[in-house]
Amino acid sequence: MSAHDYEDYEKACKNYDEFRLAAGGETELNALRRLGKPLRDLHIADVGCGTGNYTKYFLDNGVGKVSMFDASEGMLRYARTKVADYVAAGRVPHCEQLELPCPIPGGEQRYDAICINFVLHHLGSPDDDLATETFPKAMAAIRNVYDALRKGGLFILLSSLRPQLPHIMWHTSFITDLDDLFNQPIIKFVCGDYNIIERALTKIGFSNMQATVPLHEILLKPHHYYNIDNASDPRFIQSVSTFALIKNRDKNKGTNHMETYFQRLRDSKERNELAAVIEEKETLRKIYGCITAISAEKP
Ligand SMILES: C[S@@+](CC[C@H](N)C(=O)[O-])C[C@H]1O[C@@H](n2cnc3c(N)ncnc32)[C@H](O)[C@@H]1O
Repeated sequence: MSAHDYEDYEKACKNYDEFRLAAGGETELNALRRLGKPLRDLHIADVGCGTGNYTKYFLDNGVGKVSMFDASEGMLRYARTKVADYVAAGRVPHCEQLELPCPIPGGEQRYDAICINFVLHHLGSPDDDLATETFPKAMAAIRNVYDALRKGGLFILLSSLRPQLPHIMWHTSFITDLDDLFNQPIIKFVCGDYNIIERALTKIGFSNMQATVPLHEILLKPHHYYNIDNASDPRFIQSVSTFALIKNRDKNKGTNHMETYFQRLRDSKERNELAAVIEEKETLRKIYGCITAISAEKP
């Protein structure tokens, strides 16, 4: 499954920054300290950088250089504007289009760290097979990450893992057949359980894996996340991939679970139950977390 099968980032880019932030960025920054160098001496890459929220966060917090890559020219347009001052200061050596699994520009053994945040679920292929843990496109991308890292460099991956998927946002309470939504082999791989990711990274050659769950973090800007009126705002719906998956499933199966989501939301509001639903879901989110940061070293 490629990004374009269910999420059109040329359209999504317009509303993305209204709702999204660099969730988990602080955890990635802490992982960078494993490198044992001052942050200002690092050159890292943000691959699948989207509108550049993480790149900007890294640069704002003292990382020396960040190169940014994304498949979507629309997302990159926003990214370029966001970090224009850093580009002018020479701290963004690359800001260009790259469709994974193509090799990462900059040369072999170049980067101190490569971050891939909420991207690999777009790298499905018809040959993916969960039983044999075969994921040709995603694995080719991770191999290219390995090659682009210097010795001792870090691959840092942000994803939501399986126990976290029901808690990525309270809105999932109103989604029909949530498990079925995340059924594709690629999602079961990169948003599956930590074991399968650990085995895959080990197969490629990575070692010294660490996984951290920042229980205090949410995926969306808090003032929007907790504003119940946003839950049905088309701009909000367009900025979250989960809704793109629902729309895609509706199209393929002839269902209308998107309308069911809106109806359940309205019903809950009318019955004055919404606050209780949100509180219950938020309690669980703080138990399971909604983000896992995995860092792995190239020996
Ligand atoms: C959910 S967004 C995440 C963006 C950013 N990392 C963030 O978390 O804000 C997924 C991003 O992956 C990019 N993407 C999807 N498939 C890709 C591919 N094959 N190669 C590079 N980028 C890809 C999309 O264009 C989009 O910007």
